[in-house]
Amino acid sequence: MFLPRGKMEKTSLLWQLCLCLLLSCTLQARLTVSPSSSQVFEGDFVSLSCEEDDSSAGWTLRRNTSKEKSSQCGIDWGRSAGSSCIVSHIISWDSGVYWCESREGPISNMVNLTVTGGSVILQSPVLPVMEGDDVTLLCKTKTTPSNLPAAFYKDGSLIRKQPTGHMTIQHVSRSDEGLYKCDISGHGESPSSWITVTEKHTTTPTPTWKSNPDPSAMRTG
Ligand SMILES: *[C@@H]1O[C@H](CO)[C@@H](O)[C@H](O)[C@H]1NC(C)=O
Ligand SMILES: *[C@@H]1O[C@H](CO)[C@@H](O)[C@H](O)[C@H]1NC(C)=O
Repeated sequence: MFLPRGKMEKTSLLWQLCLCLLLSCTLQARLTVSPSSSQVFEGDFVSLSCEEDDSSAGWTLRRNTSKEKSSQCGIDWGRSAGSSCIVSHIISWDSGVYWCESREGPISNMVNLTVTGGSVILQSPVLPVMEGDDVTLLCKTKTTPSNLPAAFYKDGSLIRKQPTGHMTIQHVSRSDEGLYKCDISGHGESPSSWITVTEKHTTTPTPTWKSNPDPSAMRTG
């Protein structure tokens, strides 16, 4: 099938754009946290990883806390172990925003980590939740093996009391986005954490460019 010359050029330009986008996406790192929870207890062992397809990219893990800005794993805090960073005895001061960053500039998704000296945490997703998915929140104490009755709050209001400390939100929608916390009678209240819900058709996080971030290349029409 023949296309008029003008159309051909436009098509190949689109292909180049697609390839470029694909490349940028595969070169993006993803920050994951283990245990997979936005809240942990003081004294817990936490491992953070920059997962990437291109191992030569040279990602570093950084964080902002209330005390320090853009401080680097292995130098300012934590112990660097390959593409992971280990904090073997986490403390309240380690609470903050964490991300992976390459020398070239692009950054990964960000993770809010809250470390509590209290005795209750809410285990909520570290990464944004996709619209339509089910999300399970777990309210747990430091000392008792879980399964205690818990109350769950969203934006300050009680939403559910659950006998086993688990709460599942089915088919999450944008209206479920908010600040969550939980409470276990006789043990106390957890800190609050944001649950972010992303639209199904969008990819998260927004692609950041590894190289050639010429914005004019985007405007082909
Ligand atoms: C970290 O702190 C710096 C300096 O205050 C700020 O410019 C930057 O946006 C912060 N990054 C995140 C991910 O919050
Ligand atoms: C981190 O927490 C702050 C509020 O404490 C919120 O505004 C922000 O959206 C959170 N960021 C992420 C990536 O969840």
